[in-house]
Amino acid sequence: MFAFDAWGAIIEDAHRYPSPHNSQPIKVELRSPTQAAVYYDLDLGLPAESYGIPFAHVCAGVFLESLKVCALARGYALREELHLSEMDFSSADRLHLIGEVTLVPRTPTDEDLAVHRAFLGRQTSRRPYDNTLVDPAAVVEAEATARRHGHEFRSSSDPTLVRTLVHVNQATLFDDLRNDAVHREILTWLRFSRAEAARRGDGLSAETMLMPGPVLRFAMQHRGLWEAPLIGALIRRIYLNTMRGVRQLGWLEGPFSGPADYLEAGRAFMQVWLGFTRRNIYLHPFGTVITNPHSHAEFAAAVGAEETAGRMAWMLFRFGHSAAPPRAHRRPASAMIVPSLKEPQP
Ligand SMILES: Cc1cc2nc3c(=O)[nH]c(=O)nc-3n(C[C@H](O)[C@H](O)[C@H](O)COP(=O)(O)O)c2cc1C
Repeated sequence: MFAFDAWGAIIEDAHRYPSPHNSQPIKVELRSPTQAAVYYDLDLGLPAESYGIPFAHVCAGVFLESLKVCALARGYALREELHLSEMDFSSADRLHLIGEVTLVPRTPTDEDLAVHRAFLGRQTSRRPYDNTLVDPAAVVEAEATARRHGHEFRSSSDPTLVRTLVHVNQATLFDDLRNDAVHREILTWLRFSRAEAARRGDGLSAETMLMPGPVLRFAMQHRGLWEAPLIGALIRRIYLNTMRGVRQLGWLEGPFSGPADYLEAGRAFMQVWLGFTRRNIYLHPFGTVITNPHSHAEFAAAVGAEETAGRMAWMLFRFGHSAAPPRAHRRPASAMIVPSLKEPQP
């Protein structure tokens, strides 16, 4: 499919990395059979929210970790040279260089292969969960994983806190829609029918959000109605219904004050997610609670997050057991590849 064999298989797998709104903003320039450059496509970013810009780097960190997992399973370690600079969404150059990566031969271990299997099976589940606690060993493991990346994984199964934060997440949706820029941004990524979701291969489909497409379309195009007492209450009920059975929430805290921190945060998040997947535990990020300043303040106060000296509680999610969720589409892996600026080397 692509010019270089090893990259072909690795990118074919890695293109399943998760991204906010499933916007799939990462682009790769294949420079040689072992070298590539990784970019963030600013046209596919989500800068409307206050923390949307740092989250672009978090997503790049999620991708780098994904690329590493996929490369390891194909017999290569990944050497990285990162270009750490803040993203400027007004830049004329729409591809922000994240870094250069090199494949270094290395025999895969059983552990590498198990993580890779988890990567291919990982999904976001927005379905109701089954009200059970996960195996405590999964929580201990997530704590150790986060610690390895310099972050702290915290979790709670306190029913009052869980209920409060599930409601904060729901209220975030309503609040975000009042913001014209955020509303415009989300509308570009919603896919109201299965056919549209499959054809475009990106975005948030009504199916994965467990909403009937026409209801979602009507609700999104008449956001004023969300404030109306009866209709607002109905939409809130439909949404909260998908959150039934949530027994536990997890969140990540740690250094979050520049591109290096954001990238490392993304790696930590991905490894925690893969650890859960290996144990058949699903996860649903509440990223918008972080990117919406009002919701973030409520969340940080509710969990007593320590947010001083560049530290932040930068990710919140529900986790647990559910039926298998609908699969989110991807654009073809080849859509990630940008033409090389350099001549390929033999
Ligand atoms: C950094 C990050 C933040 C996310 N935030 C949210 C969120 O706020 N709400 C949500 O429903 N999904 C969120 N997601 C999940 C993505 O929408 C999901 O990964 C994407 O649609 C692809 O689906 P998949 O994970 O099933 O492959 C987030 C994902 C990432 C990587």
